[in-house]
Amino acid sequence: AAKMPLRGKKCLVTAGPTHEAIDPVRFIGNHSSGKMGMAIALDLADRGAEVFLIMGPSALNQPHDLIERIDVVSAMDMKNAVDEYITSVDIAVFSAAVADYRPATVSDHKIKKATDTLSIELVKNPDILAGVGAMQKPPYLVGFALETNNEMEHAFAKAEKKNTDLLVLNSMRDEEAGFNKDTNKITLIRRDKSSREFPAKSKVEVAKDIVDEILKDIM
Ligand code: C5P
Repeated sequence: AAKMPLRGKKCLVTAGPTHEAIDPVRFIGNHSSGKMGMAIALDLADRGAEVFLIMGPSALNQPHDLIERIDVVSAMDMKNAVDEYITSVDIAVFSAAVADYRPATVSDHKIKKATDTLSIELVKNPDILAGVGAMQKPPYLVGFALETNNEMEHAFAKAEKKNTDLLVLNSMRDEEAGFNKDTNKITLIRRDKSSREFPAKSKVEVAKDIVDEILKDIM
């Protein structure tokens, strides 16, 4: 039982990028690999939790008996999947790199090359995490922040705005941190505004640190 402290708990994890369609063959995306979210989902499952992994387009595939994977493409798809599962979970970790904007309209045919310039109008995507943070009784909430300047100040503001219990700040200044890498360097910020900086580690080790911190709060 000591090794399975999360038995009986349900968790939701969002991971990976989102792809926002422009036309049938093109999209707006980002370089997220889904590695951090996948590592967290695996660590939660290894500790006995039943995990719903809501994953944007990613080449990763690491099945686990306790992980149910829900594949999505766009931010709107991801939001719909989160809405479907969120009321049944105890813990929710939002590690996906959700596109902030999507094309206002999706062309039903491949856009032809013609004019010298081309504009695509973008509209804002819903902030999935903030929406969950505004629920009457949200689950234990973990969010991520990737900041390039005034990191701590922005991270504290983000934790408050999104109502997170734990905010994971990734530093972009670090060689070891970021998209498509196997390592990460984080600072954890709790609801009481205390913070703890960790050294650079593999994403698998970082996932353990994050889940250890969640356990301290919910046990
Ligand atoms: O506002 P920002 O994108 O920096 O916030 C990052 C955090 O919010 C991450 O936890 C991310 O998964 C989540 N997020 C979200 N929906 C969005 C944008 C961000 O859930 N549309």
